[in-house]
Amino acid sequence: MKLSFTGVLTALASLDLVKRVAAAGWPNGPLVTSGRYVLDTTGTNITYAGTNWPGAADVMIPEGLQYQSIQTIVSKIKSLGMNAIRLTFAIQMIDEIYANGGKDVTLQRAFVQALGQANGTRVLNQVLAKNPGFSASTTRVEVFDAVAAECFKQQIYVHLDNHISKGMWCCGTGDGNSWWGDTYFSSANWTRGLAYMAEHAKSWPAFTSIGLRNEPREPTSNAQLSRSTYNWQTWYTYMKQGAAAVHAANPDTLIFLSGMNYDTTLTPVVRGTALTPGSGKFSLDDFPGYANKLVLELHNYENSASNCNSLQSNLRNNGFEAMSASAVNKFPVMLTEFGFQMDASEWKKVYATCLASFVAKEKAGWFIWVVAGSYYIRSGIQDYDEGWGLFNRDWSAWRSPSYINGALLTMVKDTLK
Ligand SMILES: *[C@@H]1O[C@H](CO)[C@@H](O)[C@H](O)[C@H]1NC(C)=O
Ligand SMILES: *[C@@H]1O[C@H](CO)[C@@H](O)[C@H](O)[C@H]1NC(C)=O
Ligand SMILES: *[C@@H]1O[C@H](CO)[C@@H](O)[C@H](O)[C@H]1NC(C)=O
Repeated sequence: MKLSFTGVLTALASLDLVKRVAAAGWPNGPLVTSGRYVLDTTGTNITYAGTNWPGAADVMIPEGLQYQSIQTIVSKIKSLGMNAIRLTFAIQMIDEIYANGGKDVTLQRAFVQALGQANGTRVLNQVLAKNPGFSASTTRVEVFDAVAAECFKQQIYVHLDNHISKGMWCCGTGDGNSWWGDTYFSSANWTRGLAYMAEHAKSWPAFTSIGLRNEPREPTSNAQLSRSTYNWQTWYTYMKQGAAAVHAANPDTLIFLSGMNYDTTLTPVVRGTALTPGSGKFSLDDFPGYANKLVLELHNYENSASNCNSLQSNLRNNGFEAMSASAVNKFPVMLTEFGFQMDASEWKKVYATCLASFVAKEKAGWFIWVVAGSYYIRSGIQDYDEGWGLFNRDWSAWRSPSYINGALLTMVKDTLK
């Protein structure tokens, strides 16, 4: 084709357009917020309906890989209609990279360190048999990479979650990971680890957001720390630090803020009241250039609820009212953890049915706890059977098919429609 000068200019202009459109395929990021909504670059409202996939316990790699391939697990999540995973990681994973001169820990070492020589070797071999793309010298972060790559193939958003500092089962007030300054919870290691993962995840096209810290809670094993710092004022100091570290490392990612008391409340943030004991208030001006990147997350485990109205009113008061037109500070809010025993009856009770109707009505995103049918190790017990897991122990089938077919598929559909 012969082009005139203007033709060349037009061709160049449209080439630029083509490049931009091509670069803008799914997930059409970066995502931004607008009031209570999350929007992609096409202006479409996005929310998450997905599951937690833990990778923050002792081995510090995503669970289940001794039983199924990553491809199989992601395909099963996709078959539920879900569009996102909350992938948890421990700060210790990044601390060990720094302590090791920048080199990540191999799967061989990770499994043996956490499960002992005999079981560690056996489970490693099972992982390699199910996931032949890996070898004993594959590293932990490379496993996270493989999960993220498969999620991209299947169009599942990856939300990273800093779940804990020391890799172990979470969470208790006395576990040393509860609050900034607790035994294992160094704020410097935390911001360094957040920045590392946010920067690293630039290479994952499916990556769209990161949670700064799972379930901040009272450090009950340290009375002095608790008395002097377990409050909203300190919470805000650290949330600003964490958000700034993430934004500097990766300006494209959404940043999720979680509240006090195991991330069950964010009321003063939403209402714009004093962050006590000081008189300062939450202000978007404290997040210069990335005020449109902040999302709130809450957890709910009021499993014995007997009255749906009061459960929903708790959710609103605790922070979901940020999605209402009258909120002082409007944000998207997501229920990033809730869960219950995967049996034939629990899903029919008030807690599960009420949360399902709430998120659908509010168009609030959510992640159920948990996909894992079992953990490599939890609280010292190896191959721990997880009664709340969507999968059964060997991740081969749904633990409660009646829940999947009777409620979960509909909950996903109603959230995303
Ligand atoms: C989508 O987001 C816009 C704000 O950008 C809002 O006005 C609209 O009501 C939202 N639509 C739905 C279906 O939630
Ligand atoms: C090693 O694995 C076996 C089989 O899962 C289990 O019975 C045993 O308790 C494990 N050993 C340790 C030290 O946990
Ligand atoms: C912080 O990371 C360093 C390695 O860089 C490690 O030696 C130290 O124990 C970590 N601090 C805590 C409190 O875990």
